[in-house]
Amino acid sequence: MSRCFGFRKKWKDIKLKLEDEVIKDNRKPAIKDVHAALSSESRLGSNPPKDESKNPDKPPTYTYRELATATNNFREESFIGEGGFGLVYKGKLERTGQVVAVKKLNHSGLQGDPEFLVEVLMLTLLRHPNLVTLFGYCAEGNQRLLVYEYMSLGSLEGHLHDLPPDKEPLDWNTRMMIAAGAAKGLEFLHHQAEPPVIFRDLKSANILLGEGFHPKLSDFGLAKFGPSGDKSHVSTRVMGTQGYCAPEYATSGKLTSKSDIYSFGVVLLELLTGRKALDDNYGRDKQLVEWARPMLKDRQRITQLADPLLKGCGGCFELPSFPQV
Ligand SMILES: Nc1ncnc2c1ncn2[C@@H]1O[C@H](COP(=O)(O)OP(=O)(O)OP(=O)(O)O)[C@@H](O)[C@H]1O
Ligand SMILES: [Mg+2]
Repeated sequence: MSRCFGFRKKWKDIKLKLEDEVIKDNRKPAIKDVHAALSSESRLGSNPPKDESKNPDKPPTYTYRELATATNNFREESFIGEGGFGLVYKGKLERTGQVVAVKKLNHSGLQGDPEFLVEVLMLTLLRHPNLVTLFGYCAEGNQRLLVYEYMSLGSLEGHLHDLPPDKEPLDWNTRMMIAAGAAKGLEFLHHQAEPPVIFRDLKSANILLGEGFHPKLSDFGLAKFGPSGDKSHVSTRVMGTQGYCAPEYATSGKLTSKSDIYSFGVVLLELLTGRKALDDNYGRDKQLVEWARPMLKDRQRITQLADPLLKGCGGCFELPSFPQV
């Protein structure tokens, strides 16, 4: 039985807490919500242990000073990359000796707070070999930092697009292994987590690669609980990344787990073709899905999709049932 089922009661409590107190009433969540939702009291109805180490489900909190020390004061040499929510640094925790990635969120008016809250809560209770592990967080004053396991090979995006001349392109088997791992992570969210979780931001930048190109899904800040009862969808503000967003979700705001499957199809196309989901350099063909669709439907033309960097892989595209988006 997966760990998630074992935590069903706590998970349900947290879902209620998030939806009723934080998200539904559109109140801007405060950092005390993170602590409250993660406290043993709110999950178990029992007295919370004072000692963090006695409460293994709660990720440790770090002081800003500890994370500054870990990353050499967020110096340029420790910088790994930048995303929509802030900068990411490599560091080493003095407390445990662990090598970590520290994401320092922009705090222009703390716009990222709801995402921070959802990220901490989701990653605290969802554990799977294909989901990135959250080691802890820091919420001191205006500072919001997330501490993750360090994924040594970076993102899938970095191995597919704009490769520097000295970087080897991924071979076919590695690409398929990455696709299978990402699918397992998604399958866990949709079918094993209770209640189910819709990831909402699946893209090659959010598939991180560890040793041996082992893939893990990262960035749960936009994730949502799936529909409950006999509802077929959740109505939300449309969020996600252009080029990956399912058209029916983009036009209606009705979110289902199928929206994630669409995004997964786009990632699969990126793996097969080496092209970006959206690339202005291709003019009218800038949308990968639209460019690929006629070739996907015509078995005579299917090999035209192949990434030119997939050398010596003539037979790879002769699969009996080729993926459809
Ligand atoms: N745990 C990690 N280990 C190693 N590298 C990481 C880790 N998390 C993020 N990175 C790297 O840091 C960079 C920025 O990541 P981040 O998630 O902030 O942005 P993004 O996914 O590129 O964009 P967006 O903000 O739209 O999700 C990426 O290049 C990613 O590869
Ligand atoms: Mg990301």
